[in-house]
Amino acid sequence: MIEFNNVTKYYKSNVGLDNVTVKINRGDFVFLVGPSGAGKSTFIKLILKELEADKGTIKVRGEDVTKMAARQVPGLRRNIGIVFQNFRLLPKKTVYENVAFAMEIVHAPRKKIKKQVPQVLSMMGISESAKKYPDELSAGEQQRVAIARAIVNKPKILIADEPTGNLDPDTAWEIMQLLNMINQRGTTILMVTHAKDIVDKMEKRVIAIENGRIVRDEFGMYGYRQALLGDDSAFDESAVKEPWTRDTLSATRRTLRRYRSGGQSGRQSGSSQFSGRPASEQRESQRDDRTRFSRGGQDR
Ligand SMILES: Nc1ncnc2c1ncn2[C@@H]1O[C@H](COP(=O)(O)OP(=O)(O)O)[C@@H](O)[C@H]1O
Ligand SMILES: [Mg+2]
Repeated sequence: MIEFNNVTKYYKSNVGLDNVTVKINRGDFVFLVGPSGAGKSTFIKLILKELEADKGTIKVRGEDVTKMAARQVPGLRRNIGIVFQNFRLLPKKTVYENVAFAMEIVHAPRKKIKKQVPQVLSMMGISESAKKYPDELSAGEQQRVAIARAIVNKPKILIADEPTGNLDPDTAWEIMQLLNMINQRGTTILMVTHAKDIVDKMEKRVIAIENGRIVRDEFGMYGYRQALLGDDSAFDESAVKEPWTRDTLSATRRTLRRYRSGGQSGRQSGSSQFSGRPASEQRESQRDDRTRFSRGGQDR
């Protein structure tokens, strides 16, 4: 679906991405994590051809965007829905109009708009708010509208840039359930986030970048899953130069040690951002997940 091959992007002397090779498959749900300045936005902008790569090739749905002509770019972007942290709704349009507008600009027939907008509002649980304006909605409702707008044209890919950054933990979790549902209906999702709690609980693929390089690509955890799986020797914290990553790694290992030594679960340890429990144990009822999630969020 999205394929980077040896992609490098510099901003003068600043590294944006440094020789990145990665493949995101159709139907994947991928978290893109990493500290500020790591290259996350660069990665997204390259997919959308808002930036040109210096080196390498980037394929989106089989097409090489690095060789794409300017007139083909709108077509590329039409297949990619985008959701932002700050919603970016049109303030003078109603909920319905905001979503309908996304179809109008791609010249969808009126009949199709009339059919699809109510459908997607219903899917996002905001049918009742159709006639309201964005400033009459809660943050969570605004993000639902923004997601409705992003998916109303049925894009194959949905990119979400910190979509839960402005939301309280319970609302953030609701938004994650919606994204999960959209993913299960076949849309490939790439989500940039700093929300460790969410990443850990979702159990999806996590690509971590630092200084423009992919430093980790595995399933399940924001932190270092391998450390959780027990191979302590493979990790030398002191070798990790980026303080944010080093701290994350250290926190994960501390939790792990606590978990291993006392049979103490992550739930009891309370203040830890990492539950430190094996994935199988983490698959409990959703209600339990939500309780833990909201508590974890407030701890921070
Ligand atoms: N327009 C720009 N001009 C110069 N440097 C930039 C520009 N955009 C990003 N950078 C640099 O590229 C690196 C990666 O940035 P970015 O992709 O925005 O990171 P992230 O989104 O992970 O915070 C950073 O060092 C940043 O300072
Ligand atoms: Mg960014």
